[in-house]
Amino acid sequence: MKFFAILALCVVGAIADPLSADQAALVKSSWKQVSHNEADILYAVFKAYPDIQAKFPQFAGKDLESVKDTAAFATHATRIVSFLSEVIALSGEASNLGAINNIVSKLGADHNGRGVTKAQFGEFRTALMAYLQAHVSWGENVAAAWNHALDNTMEIAFKSMEH
Ligand code: HEM
Repeated sequence: MKFFAILALCVVGAIADPLSADQAALVKSSWKQVSHNEADILYAVFKAYPDIQAKFPQFAGKDLESVKDTAAFATHATRIVSFLSEVIALSGEASNLGAINNIVSKLGADHNGRGVTKAQFGEFRTALMAYLQAHVSWGENVAAAWNHALDNTMEIAFKSMEH
């Protein structure tokens, strides 16, 4: 019994301050307004931060305008957006905290292996927030919900990243 109580604490402890149901609902409803704009989101990220584009072997050194309409670009944009959709779908439910922790830890470890830095994840976050602010019904409550969600996500990912 004690063992299970400690185990439960460890799983929940992976996310110290989970999103409230209200905040999760705000993130879900705003994400729904843009989650079909996959390539547009990746374009905004690469445009603002060319160093992120440079980490992709298939896009490095290429003109963004010439790659943005390619199948490879659409494929990667869909991967990123689908990942976020998965995490967002799991949010707001205490029983999903362990699953969120697992997939985000793996994302951090996989990107660490590719030489992606915490600073670049921070750049991605800045570009994503700017995209959301420009494309969804925005307000202080929506901004606070996204910041809370991204604080939690980055905290988990960073635990598996070295630089
Ligand atoms: C911020 C800097 C980032 C860089 C430089 C970066 C770079 C990369 C690279 C080089 C790949 C492999 C692509 C391939 O071989 O086809 C990849 C895969 C992937 N990235 Fe990123 N990425 C970044 C951030 C993110 C973020 C924030 C997310 C999610 C929100 C994400 C989600 C994914 C997914 C789902 C894959 C495919 C699955 C995998 O191979 O792990 N990436 N990324």
